[in-house]
Amino acid sequence: MSRFRTLDDLDAADRTILVRVDLNLPMQDGEVTDFTRVDRVLPTIRELIDRGARVVLLSHFGRPKGQVNPDMSLRPVAEAVANRLNRPVTFADDCIGAGAEAAIMSIGAGEVALLENLRFHPGEESNDNTFAAALAALGDGYVNDAFSCSHRAHASTAALAHKLPAAAGRNMEAELSALSAALEKPQRPVAAVVGGAKISTKLDVLGHLIERVDFLIIGGAMANTFLHAEGYDVGASLCESDLADTARAITTKAKDKGCEILLPQDALVADALEAGITTETVSIKAVPTEKMILDVGPKTVSDLEKRLTSWHTILWNGPLGAFEFPPFDAGTVALAKAAAARTQAGDLISVAGGGDTVAALRHAGVVDDFTYVSTAGGAFLEWLEGKELPGVKALAIDQS
Ligand code: 3PG
Repeated sequence: MSRFRTLDDLDAADRTILVRVDLNLPMQDGEVTDFTRVDRVLPTIRELIDRGARVVLLSHFGRPKGQVNPDMSLRPVAEAVANRLNRPVTFADDCIGAGAEAAIMSIGAGEVALLENLRFHPGEESNDNTFAAALAALGDGYVNDAFSCSHRAHASTAALAHKLPAAAGRNMEAELSALSAALEKPQRPVAAVVGGAKISTKLDVLGHLIERVDFLIIGGAMANTFLHAEGYDVGASLCESDLADTARAITTKAKDKGCEILLPQDALVADALEAGITTETVSIKAVPTEKMILDVGPKTVSDLEKRLTSWHTILWNGPLGAFEFPPFDAGTVALAKAAAARTQAGDLISVAGGGDTVAALRHAGVVDDFTYVSTAGGAFLEWLEGKELPGVKALAIDQS
């Protein structure tokens, strides 16, 4: 991993520090429904407050495509941040120009302002130099604490980092070091769990992981495509049969690289994906033609639990079954609990990420028991694909 400047390297006292955060929070009827992303950036904000900086938060919200859209205003989010921070947050109705300047002038050292949605200006998404300069004119230093936005080469994540003294915030630092511990220099054996509906959306993830992990557990409907490719009848299950050759090529390459792919040995099947529907546990060799595979079966779970005791690192992206519809949550919940217990015992480094995965771990009640759970969706996936994230690259000291 490249080296980064951190808050330790940034002059903050009596300076105006622009902090890129991800306040793209889940909301319903104007109310924030999950504060995790706010809570993750509080350490950076508090540290800058304590060091006497004027803290200016920058974020996008939704995808307004360069237009002012009152439904995507960050105004209600300012209140949410103020509540979590337990301090007032001054809101500016624009992120550049007079509106932003007035709000920043009105705060003193150790106070916080939040600027309106960056994406109300087209220059944000086009990584426009003039827009980035208008942002830079507002501050003396720049901190990126939004790993979850750093797969975007946008003005606030890319161009701006080159216009002011720049550093990674504490959340970004924690995220990068957790990801590095999971994949760049992991304690071996390292296993990855990759689930979800389609292999077509995760081909690059699979390709990258088989070169780096010792075991690859494939779950969700993705596993059906691999099973089909190996000649099993997956009945009425979701399956990308046109990708059978691709699945076989991944399996062959994994063998060459010394990565063992683990597929379900048994499954929970039903006539349809409905909560509480009658289910049957069957061997993967005997899936009834009219039934769908909706979760891994108990034999698979107990095999994975047994194997888990010898793994030292686990990386998790995607559920093993249709966990939103109990009882098809059983496999995911059991493996998540086993990983959480070993993590808490100090025997396992467990790193998870991706929207569905966080929801699944929350459902299992173990989100706080993993070593690190990333709130990033797209950025986590791109990192799993081995891509360089523009917002992370922009912070590196030794950029090439
Ligand atoms: C996210 O919610 O994953 C981030 O805020 C990035 O949002 P985007 O996909 O709209 O860039």
